Amino acid sequence: MKIVVIQGPNLNMLGVREQQIYGSMKLEQIHAQMKDFASQSGLDIEFFQSNLEGEIVDKIQECYGDADGIIINPAAYTHTSIAIRDAISAVSLPTIEVHISNVHRREEFRKQNMIAAVCSSSIVGFGPFGYHLAMVGMVQIMNEIKA
Ligand code: DQA
Repeated sequence: MKIVVIQGPNLNMLGVREQQIYGSMKLEQIHAQMKDFASQSGLDIEFFQSNLEGEIVDKIQECYGDADGIIINPAAYTHTSIAIRDAISAVSLPTIEVHISNVHRREEFRKQNMIAAVCSSSIVGFGPFGYHLAMVGMVQIMNEIKA
């Protein structure tokens, strides 16, 4: 089974941007850990990062017929993008939303979330470890589908 991990705008700057909020791990390090966990769990995994909304929509659409599950951090588009929400809804795959920071404790504008309602589950506020939690959750979902 195959999982696609989609990372939104500015997440390529992890390790540099606001370390007090997002931690010091770089995206490549997070992905390396996810890749290890995926191979231990017998899952194929692919990683994609874009700063562009339309490219993220295209990637979600490509998952249809190609992937079994999506882990996505839409980053700032979480709060604005009906297009990303509609794409997730359209492909109808198990989708776990991750936010590194606790968006509920931050600025008011981060409380608006266009994405959560079309996701299977959300992981918020665990720092980069949230991606590992998402992998554990995704393995559980994949096992339930197989059973
Ligand atoms: C984020 C939270 C968003 O509000 C922000 O725009 C991001 C990252 C997070 O992972 O905590 O870029 O999605």
